[in-house]
Amino acid sequence: MKNWAGFYFQKISQMGLRRALRQTWGYARGTLLSLHFKKPAFILAWGKVRIWQEHGTIEAADLVRFYPDVRLSCVGAPDKTARLQIGKSSSIGDRTEIHAGAEVRIGERVMISWDCVIMDREYHVSGAAPEKMKPVVIENDVLIGCHSIILKGVHIGEHAVVGAGSVVTKDVAPYSVVAGNPAHCLKGNDAFVPEPMIHKSTRIVK
Ligand SMILES: CC(C)(COP(=O)(O)OP(=O)(O)OC[C@H]1O[C@@H](n2cnc3c(N)ncnc32)[C@H](O)[C@@H]1OP(=O)(O)O)[C@@H](O)C(=O)NCCC(=O)NCCS
Repeated sequence: MKNWAGFYFQKISQMGLRRALRQTWGYARGTLLSLHFKKPAFILAWGKVRIWQEHGTIEAADLVRFYPDVRLSCVGAPDKTARLQIGKSSSIGDRTEIHAGAEVRIGERVMISWDCVIMDREYHVSGAAPEKMKPVVIENDVLIGCHSIILKGVHIGEHAVVGAGSVVTKDVAPYSVVAGNPAHCLKGNDAFVPEPMIHKSTRIVK
């Protein structure tokens, strides 16, 4: 208890009372939000997060950050549960939407910018064909630039960067930079690591 109080006072002196209170409120809101998830976690919600969950489970690990107006949809079927997983210290930008009908797995320290869409499904299909769904996997330490769309079946390797405004339709190799519509490789295998992604506990091995 004493340690927590000390930690809190140190934070207040570092960031100022107003910011510290805002952050405390954000963590309280986030932790309450996590009660809708598979298990409670210590997460930060800077604003409203809309959740649509039916025959699906959402998991968000500690220190995940949700910016305002994020929308999470995890809607499976009675015989097939959908899964949405967000790893530790990842951050989901303003108005970003994640739609899981089968599985969307986001690793640790992934930074998803604002106005992105990640979907493993189509929703609308032509004719009588069943809706296509393919899992989306985003590995650790990936940066997804603003206004990007990640479509079904895509696997993004660790430390990759998706440029702003990209539509990603195919797998992205680890340590590569892709951009455009459809996204293509700008730089391959050059260990590109954007600065905000360098996390105290991350060792970047080139
Ligand atoms: C992809 C990105 C990381 C590349 O940055 P960079 O390594 O400095 O690359 P450059 O600006 O030198 O551009 C290299 C080439 O890629 C092109 N390019 C860069 N970003 C692009 C994008 N988003 N879409 C399409 N093409 C792009 C450039 O036009 C240039 O093409 P050229 O060689 O024919 O002239 C950067 O442009 C980007 O999109 N960053 C994301 C920004 C963002 O969303 N930030 C929010 C973070 S929370």
